[in-house]
Amino acid sequence: MKADEYKMTALIKKITGIVPFLMVTAINSVALAMLKTGKQADDLRVFLIIAAAVIMTNIILSKVKKVLTYFTIAISSVTLLGILTVFVYPQLGILFLNNIIAALYAALFLTAFFPPIFGLDPFTYDFSKKNYPESVHRMPQFKSINLVLNYIWALIFALAFTLTLITYTSDYALQQILQTIVPITMQLVIGLPLTRKLPELLMAKGSPQKNNFSSVKEMFEAMPYGLNTKKSDGLDVVIQFKLNGEETIEGYLTISRNECSYSDGLHVKPSTTIISDSKLWLDISNGDVSGDEAFINKRYTVEGDAGILLTLSELFTASVSSKRVKKQKNDIEGSSFTYKSFEPGYIKKIVVINSSPRTEQFSKSLLMANKFIAGAESAGAETEMVNLKDKTINYCTCCYSCWTKTPGVCIFKDDMPKILEKIRRADLVVYVTPLYVFSVSAQLKVFIDRMLPLLQPYMVKTDGITNHPNRFEEDRPNGLVVFSAGGFPEVRKNFDGISAIVRNIGSHFQTTNLMAEFFLPASELLQQPVYRERKTRVEEACFNAGRDAVLTGTINDSYMEIVSDPDIDQDVFIDQANMFWKSLDGKKAYYQGTPKLF
Ligand SMILES: Cc1cc2nc3c(=O)[nH]c(=O)nc-3n(C[C@H](O)[C@H](O)[C@H](O)COP(=O)(O)O)c2cc1C
Repeated sequence: MKADEYKMTALIKKITGIVPFLMVTAINSVALAMLKTGKQADDLRVFLIIAAAVIMTNIILSKVKKVLTYFTIAISSVTLLGILTVFVYPQLGILFLNNIIAALYAALFLTAFFPPIFGLDPFTYDFSKKNYPESVHRMPQFKSINLVLNYIWALIFALAFTLTLITYTSDYALQQILQTIVPITMQLVIGLPLTRKLPELLMAKGSPQKNNFSSVKEMFEAMPYGLNTKKSDGLDVVIQFKLNGEETIEGYLTISRNECSYSDGLHVKPSTTIISDSKLWLDISNGDVSGDEAFINKRYTVEGDAGILLTLSELFTASVSSKRVKKQKNDIEGSSFTYKSFEPGYIKKIVVINSSPRTEQFSKSLLMANKFIAGAESAGAETEMVNLKDKTINYCTCCYSCWTKTPGVCIFKDDMPKILEKIRRADLVVYVTPLYVFSVSAQLKVFIDRMLPLLQPYMVKTDGITNHPNRFEEDRPNGLVVFSAGGFPEVRKNFDGISAIVRNIGSHFQTTNLMAEFFLPASELLQQPVYRERKTRVEEACFNAGRDAVLTGTINDSYMEIVSDPDIDQDVFIDQANMFWKSLDGKKAYYQGTPKLF
């Protein structure tokens, strides 16, 4: 269809759609005005014949131009039926003329309510379809969404019917206007925006269903409508597809500013290029073949940033709930651990010992600790960060000089003595450590070893545990919190080593009280845009923990649980991670040149 022709058809559709409404309004106003002046239904015959002629012409025109809608049929039929009644049974005709608008809404209600019960398409389907390609309106979700819409409209019609029966004013003319305008306004304000927006909203929110695309082309057409904007926030990517086999397709998806569009052809600078057999890609998209498995088995190729593949399915799936696992308890041993608390307001001074060699941009342990500090500062605490990577701290040589020759003083005149002073003055010490081989980082371990001068060589038994008493009597009790990020998705059998260290420090150092352990599994996923929600949850939990530690002296277990929830199933995690590493392998940049032992 040529552009001009298309425009003309669209105009005719609009006009023929409005005519039935105008006719009902005209009959309602004219007829009632005439009846008011004492005229009988018979006196309206000429007017009604003209009205019927206009309505019928409108139907014929719509039919010829193929723009006849559900609405035009419904409204026109009721009006024609009413007009016919005036001629056949004038008494009933008068009743009809007096209540033409109410009759219209009653008819609309019935047309909305009954057809779907008998298996016919919801009437809204016809309207919603206009805004989506065929591939989308064939989707089962789309049909069910329209069913919801259909019944919302049935409700709106029932409400409109009731509104036409209300006496708004004693003024006849004004009553006529209000009786007509109030229900129409209600429909325009509530009904039309709902019809336009609800399918989009529900498609984005609804539970994931298996797709059933019959061709890749159809799938690409549908993809822009299936973008999960919750997950796409901040994404700016171009995914080029080069598909061959049953369908030969060169086209690209652009995801930017929470919108997705598909264009045919080659993009000049795609961020990712997927080269695949079209049937395989269709099967992956329909969920018949695992994309991860296909990738690992090199059934398709990826060039450029393969990271987007980790998130592709989630970007186009409304919910990833099926991939979620039950919240893991932060409890490492499987038995509950009692963390220590202080009086509200006790913690005023916090020293953070950061042992991640990474920068702020990359360290996930530091990300948590920084939020904790921000929360503590918001509650009025004074904080100080010590970055171990910038300090010179020698290994402990176990010479015991700090216990013998120079009690409380180490042989090394490096940065450690100053840091020890800082932690002795602090009300709360925060350890920040990456999880390295199931334990704290080497940097933190060296630091911990060098705390020996704080203890006396004597041994005492406290609660059945052998320990060394504190050397400095003036030292007040202080709290200990640990933040650690680990790459694996588990907390148990992964962070146990760190937990054992800090729990033992808590029970063996007389002044140290372990207040909380924050273990972040699957840490590297946090930088993926699709896990933004998890990142926000983690950040909020850490911030609140810092704030509460200062204000209430207690850190709630729930904050630790939020942090320790990997938000991903172990198998899915493993598949995604392998896919990622495989993609790097594909570039031959990471394994090339690996030295061989023999
Ligand atoms: C030497 C080394 C050992 C690691 N060992 C583990 C481990 O035992 N368990 C684990 O889950 N992740 C392990 N990882 C992954 C890191 O814990 C993960 O990348 C973490 O985010 C690092 O913390 P950061 O981001 O605060 O520096 C290891 C990483 C390195 C470099």
